[in-house]
Amino acid sequence: MSNLIKDIDIISGEEAVAADFKTTTEENTGKAKKLYIESYGCQMNFSDSEIVASIMKENGFDTTSDFSQADVVFLNTCSIREKAEQTVRHRLNHFNAIKKNKPEMTIGVLGCMAERLKEKLLEEEKIVDVVVGPDAYRDLPNLVNAAEDGRKGVNTFLSREETYADIAPVRLNSNGVTAFISIMRGCDNMCSFCVVPFTRGRERSRDPHSIVAEARDLFEKGYREVTLLGQNVDSYKWSPEENNKARLNKKEEEVSDIVNFANLLEMVALVDPNLRVRFSTSHPKDITDDVLYTMKKYDNICKYIHLPVQSGNSRVLELMNRTYDREWYLDRVRAIREILGEECGISSDMIAGFCTETEEEHQDTLSLMDIVKYDFSYMFFYSERPGTLAAKKYEDDIPLDVKKRRLAEIIEKQTQLSLDRNNLDVGKEQLILIEGTSKKSSEEFKGRNSANKVVIVPSAGLKMGDYVKVKITGCSAATLFGEVLEINPAL
Ligand code: SAH
Ligand code: SF4
Ligand code: F3S
Repeated sequence: MSNLIKDIDIISGEEAVAADFKTTTEENTGKAKKLYIESYGCQMNFSDSEIVASIMKENGFDTTSDFSQADVVFLNTCSIREKAEQTVRHRLNHFNAIKKNKPEMTIGVLGCMAERLKEKLLEEEKIVDVVVGPDAYRDLPNLVNAAEDGRKGVNTFLSREETYADIAPVRLNSNGVTAFISIMRGCDNMCSFCVVPFTRGRERSRDPHSIVAEARDLFEKGYREVTLLGQNVDSYKWSPEENNKARLNKKEEEVSDIVNFANLLEMVALVDPNLRVRFSTSHPKDITDDVLYTMKKYDNICKYIHLPVQSGNSRVLELMNRTYDREWYLDRVRAIREILGEECGISSDMIAGFCTETEEEHQDTLSLMDIVKYDFSYMFFYSERPGTLAAKKYEDDIPLDVKKRRLAEIIEKQTQLSLDRNNLDVGKEQLILIEGTSKKSSEEFKGRNSANKVVIVPSAGLKMGDYVKVKITGCSAATLFGEVLEINPAL
């Protein structure tokens, strides 16, 4: 394997996250049993693990970061690419080896792989005790009890209603400053490459009042930034009727209005001007000018949009069933620039080597990147997923070495674009929120600017959760460096 390909493995998005899984932090409230959770995949999964910890806590479990102490081990898994599943399989083998000397330990697979493989993991492969899909976490305590009694526990029922709206997540691995709030679940798009509609079920939106209450509670606990999460936040839509709630004997005209994503953003922005609001992911077919104007109206809504394009070629986009073409996408980018200006951060996801993609079509992706000038991208080569539309309809005909070469070209392009975009920030004054210590030095803090870029500053006089006005003094392709001008300026 060449160095280049090794680099690709490191930079390419969720796979990097998957390799660098997060474990639970210690929460010791004197409960009898210990739970250890590892989470893989996207932020929604990390957010779900916090719901799982909450459900288990109510049922007598504290979390532990040391699996040797655990009575129950959960892997919250991802199926998005083959490699993500392989990583989990290696981990499962590892835990099974431990279980040989500790037979009372329960091993559970949660999340998307549980949903995709269902009983197979229990019956054919016999490597787990409990298999629970993303909509069945309320059933976890029962299933764990069943497993402890020697029965196997499976629940992969997908719901049309479950949003876990009433469950207060236990914040795992928290820095106490930034938190994620799931605003919807599932996905109704049918991108032909994607397994998510099969593993997460139908799209449903969570009650906006419970979202605002969660944001307010976080703010009161000292958090200063929330990220609203959904596979396609722009199709957020809530009304009591849509969500199968009773009309409470109200007449038609009294029924509350529909809340769309722009409305929800505004409701969360109004919690407090000192609470930053971010969101992910935006779908190019659904992002409205209304959302862009709401972003413009509130300083505390960060000027950053993750707008995955996947491919820059209209024929490939059609095969992908993304339901927009190159022109539509570029028009949305034009609207972002017109309404929010050049400084708004834009990032993307890209798939290299989708079925039948030609060299010219791959060049279209590179040329689109040049036009948009992304600040950042998650980049992948196509990985066929069983059961998806593409797996059924198209041949996975691009050889692996070609996929990897195209991906390397996309990554090289993005690295240059990130550097160019970061260079434009040098010399500017920006507001950042301090959210952690720098990996490289204990004398430096890291914060993020509105456009979601990491800014490293000297830590003297600063603390977590401070807003800091900085002057950007330098950059690399991945990071900005700044000097402190003012701590907690009036916002
Ligand atoms: N809901 C988001 C994406 C969620 S999955 C959206 O629509 O943009 C995150 C990313 O994984 C996708 O944007 C896509 O780039 C990538 N991905 C999904 N399925 C893939 C596959 N089969 N092979 C390679 N990459 C894939
Ligand atoms: Fe997958 Fe498409 Fe849904 Fe995103 S919008 S989760 S890529 S099906
Ligand atoms: Fe993976 Fe499921 Fe998220 S497949 S990317 S964990 S929705």
